[in-house]
Amino acid sequence: MKILVLGSGAGGGFPQWNCNCRLCAGQRQGELAAHARTQSSVAVSADGESWVLLNASPDIGQQIRNHPQLHPRQGLRDTPIKAVVLMDAQIDHVSGLLGLREGPCVDLYATPCVFEDLTTGLPLLNVLQHYCGTRWHMLPVAGHQTRADFEIDGFASLRFTALAIPGKAPPYSPHRREQVVGDNIALLIEDLYDRRRLFYSPGLAEVGPQELQWMCDADCLLVDGTFWEEEEMQRAGLSGKTATEMGHLPQIGSAARAGMVDVLQATTARRKVLIHINNSNPILDEASAPRRLLDAHGIEVAYDGMEITL
Ligand code: MLT
Ligand code: MN
Ligand code: ZN
Repeated sequence: MKILVLGSGAGGGFPQWNCNCRLCAGQRQGELAAHARTQSSVAVSADGESWVLLNASPDIGQQIRNHPQLHPRQGLRDTPIKAVVLMDAQIDHVSGLLGLREGPCVDLYATPCVFEDLTTGLPLLNVLQHYCGTRWHMLPVAGHQTRADFEIDGFASLRFTALAIPGKAPPYSPHRREQVVGDNIALLIEDLYDRRRLFYSPGLAEVGPQELQWMCDADCLLVDGTFWEEEEMQRAGLSGKTATEMGHLPQIGSAARAGMVDVLQATTARRKVLIHINNSNPILDEASAPRRLLDAHGIEVAYDGMEITL
């Protein structure tokens, strides 16, 4: 399985257009060892020819331009992107669908909750009916059904599993205050030839026994790296919201709750990679102490253009 990180930043990217925080300003001025990052999305392929997008970031045009693997190959109009799977209906994960409107009808894999958000509060799918159109493949994660195995046409050697996880519905969703099964999923993708597994979860609010078990079953973890600390945004004066209020487990835990670093330490995956890094997170600075701590634990930080072959 090939995994291509198209965007490794959280909503807003890095540096964020309107942000003058230490990290954003430092990156702009070339004072930090820190790479710019577009908003989170990855592409997955079994053969390096056809690709499935996991989330569609608003930076999709730039991301496709930057990755020759995703350029048109044959004929006048063409794309190797054959399907899009959505983890949630957050703007940074879905608004790139509009950027695909010049292409063929989009085969879209999403839960009923996400479909509902994208046809009501943020009606991107209604709008796209006037352009390329979308074909919704329902991921039956809803109500009591918390996991669903599924296949994607043209990717016979990959088995996908959608898993309901703790997270947050988008601010515009009627479920914002009370998450419902299907608002947020993680993906487990298994290559049926070599049995290698990827666990992908760019937004993960909590790791309970079930999530930990899924993570322990994977060879590569590509997980929520949004925040270093619970109150990072408040400390930097950027926002009043905590990591928890935004649906993200911070890397550093507290007496009450293990952080993502502790969680990753309890897993045995060959690759442990943080993705969806917010512009407030000190790990963006490659010379920082938090970054050294990650290095010491064998935890990688995804960057745009990162390629992983499992
Ligand atoms: C989030 O995951 O909480 C987002 O990145 C927020 C946003 O898109 O602004
Ligand atoms: Mn996000
Ligand atoms: Zn910033």
